[in-house]
Amino acid sequence: MFNNNKKHPEATISLDPNRIPEHIAIIMDGNGRWAKKRHLPRIAGHRQGMETVKTVTKAASKLGVKVLTLYAFSTENWKRPKDEVNFLMGLPVKFFNNFVPELIENNVKVSVMGIVDELPQPTQKAVYDAIAQTSDCTGMILNFALNYGSRLDIRMAVRQIANEVKENAISVSDINDDLISRHLMTGFLNQYADPDLLIRTSGEERISNFLLWQIAYSELVFTKTLWPDFDGETLKEMIRDYQKRDRRFGGLNQEE
Ligand code: IPE
Ligand code: IPE
Ligand code: MG
Repeated sequence: MFNNNKKHPEATISLDPNRIPEHIAIIMDGNGRWAKKRHLPRIAGHRQGMETVKTVTKAASKLGVKVLTLYAFSTENWKRPKDEVNFLMGLPVKFFNNFVPELIENNVKVSVMGIVDELPQPTQKAVYDAIAQTSDCTGMILNFALNYGSRLDIRMAVRQIANEVKENAISVSDINDDLISRHLMTGFLNQYADPDLLIRTSGEERISNFLLWQIAYSELVFTKTLWPDFDGETLKEMIRDYQKRDRRFGGLNQEE
C-alpha cells in the first residue's frame, strides 16, 4: 500500500489501547524557531502553536487520555519582550472564545494551575469562564500551566504545610509524600497528579521548572519537532515510544 503521509512516513501508528498514559504533560516549545524558519515574527509561531493545542487536545481525548497538562507560560516567561508577553496573555482569550463549544462537545473539562491573579484581567476572565463553562464535563481534563513554575509550586506547598503545623492542624510526622502531593498545584488531580509521560518538543532536553516533584517516575520523551508542527500522529509516536519503555519504579518486573 502507498503511504502518502510525507510528514509521518511510518503511516498510521498502532497503539496498545490498554497502555495509554493516563496523564500526559507537554512542554510546548519551539514556537519562536518555527516562525524564524519562515521569516515571520515570533508571535506567528505562538498563533500556530495555539492551533496545535486544539488538534492535540482532540487527539488526546480521543485516545482516552485522562489528563493533558500543557505548559503554556512559565513564571520565567515574564522576562520576554513586553509585546510578546502581551500577545501570549491574549492567546487564552482567543483560544477559549472559539474553542469552548468544541471542548464541551468532546466532554473536556478545563483547569488551570499557576498564579492566575497575576494575569491581565481579560485573561483571568477567559480562564475562569472556560472553567465554569466546562465544569460539568466528565471526560479528559485539559489542564493549563499558566504562570506556573515548579519551584513556586513547591514553595507554596511548603508554606501551606508549615502553616498547618503552626496552627496544630497537622503534626510534623504527618508530612509524607502523599500529603506533599496533595498540597501541590496538581493535588486536585488525585490519582492522576503525576504524569506518566512527559513530552518536550523542539529538541531541548531540559525541564525548565516544570513539575519537578511530580515527574519523579515519569517517562520522558523528547522530540525535535517544533510545537506548531506537532499533531495527533506525533502524539501517537510519542505514546508508542512510551509503550516500549519498561516502567520499574525501582522494582523488578514479574518475569525477572
Ligand atoms: C514555546 O515556544 C512557547 C512559550 C514558551 C510560551 P518558544 O517561544 O519558547 O519558542 P522558541 O523556544 O523560542 O523556539
Ligand atoms: C518552557 O519553555 C516554558 C513553556 C513551554 C511555557 P521556554 O522556552 O521558556 O524554556 P527555556 O527558556 O528554553 O528553558
Ligand atoms: Mg522556548
